[in-house]
Amino acid sequence: MERDRFQVIGGVRLHGKVAVGGAKNSALKLMALALLAEGTTVIENVPAILDVEIMDELLTRLGCEVEHDFGAKKVSIRVPAQLQHRADYDLVRKMRASINVLGPLVARCGQAEVALPGGDAIGPRGLDFHVSGLERLGAQIKVEHGFVIASAPDGLRGADIYLEFPSVGATENLVTAAVLARGVTTIDNAAREPEIIDICQMLISMGAIIDGVGTHTLHISGVANMKPVVHTVVPDRVIAGTWAIAAVMTRGDIEIQNAVSEHLTIPLEKLVEAGATITAQDHGLRVVMHDRPRAVDVSTLPYPGFPTDLQPMIIAMNSIANGSAMVTENVFEGRFMFVNEMIRLGADIKTDGHHAIVHGRERLSAAPVTATDIRAGAALILAGLVSDGETIVEDAFHLDRGYPNFAEDLRSLGAEVNRI
Ligand code: UD1
Repeated sequence: MERDRFQVIGGVRLHGKVAVGGAKNSALKLMALALLAEGTTVIENVPAILDVEIMDELLTRLGCEVEHDFGAKKVSIRVPAQLQHRADYDLVRKMRASINVLGPLVARCGQAEVALPGGDAIGPRGLDFHVSGLERLGAQIKVEHGFVIASAPDGLRGADIYLEFPSVGATENLVTAAVLARGVTTIDNAAREPEIIDICQMLISMGAIIDGVGTHTLHISGVANMKPVVHTVVPDRVIAGTWAIAAVMTRGDIEIQNAVSEHLTIPLEKLVEAGATITAQDHGLRVVMHDRPRAVDVSTLPYPGFPTDLQPMIIAMNSIANGSAMVTENVFEGRFMFVNEMIRLGADIKTDGHHAIVHGRERLSAAPVTATDIRAGAALILAGLVSDGETIVEDAFHLDRGYPNFAEDLRSLGAEVNRI
């Protein structure tokens, strides 16, 4: 089968305006938690990406009627009184966020069967915190024939849960289960990414009682029922951050509309350290860069730390920076796999465990490379923009999973990027 690829011609300064849409990592979860309430929930500002279409399909198979208006960026989900409770491997393997139906299904139906997501191109990603947390809430869980099978025929009950690591997915599954549990649940060392806040806010408007939103300790008082709502997805901070890094790498000038600078405090500080001028605008921010960036050390950490999802792009930036930098990946092991592709573009990078030492080069050298995941794909395209000649990025579908209209947006900023 022929797969789409991106052709990127290097050497252009990006300039102009670009608008950021809703966050993938929020939209998918908001759609899943619609399952908690019978009736029609409407999600607005939904990005037009492949992963959302996979979630459309998953919710349909669970018995919902899903109407997706791509033009209006709106998904309406009619949730029936009786849901199916099984998420099959063919969908879960395409998109790990499918496991976000686990919490809502156990809470609402008293049972759920969700296929194990399996390997991921950014290293092994366990489900142990999801499973042990649901067990604390009274669910019985077994893993059989590649499925996580959870049952709580008499409903869930509130419990004290401590997460060993502030896992985004585990926090989401546990909050969305606890909202319908009897009694009070406390989740300690919870994740507090802006997408978790978005999820908690939607749950609260559906009738949930949650204290401590935006902190590491969530207190959830269970309610008997939830009601459907209309909710708007928070802007995508990873895409906003990608544009900011693109401006710095190409010595450009980009106005990033809808970017929320408070969601990007540390990444923006790093870009200022690299030499960028960043100014707040009415609804967004502007990033201007005149010179070659300075190399900056970065360590990824849970929010508000530097996001692991921007790590590949900051490695790309350091590859053409003045000086050397150490980039440390603390969230996902195996997230340096794309470094080999960067080396094909002439980058000088050495990795040792979860550290990467990047020695900046004046420019990269265009070559054919392959995207291994969404964020690595974006980083390779940015690297192509600062390479001599024509870079081909194979496996464009990875970009479709997270970046709506990436090539069009790049072209509107002056880049020569084509999908072929
Ligand atoms: C989500 C995001 C992803 C982002 C990540 C961290 C979505 C769809 N994906 O992924 O883009 O990079 O947050 O901000 O929202 N872990 C365990 N056991 C568990 C759960 C997690 O060991 O039960 C480990 C993982 O292997 C990983 C770390 O915890 O090393 C963080 O994972 P987690 O925060 O859960 O990330 P995701 O929710 O998968």
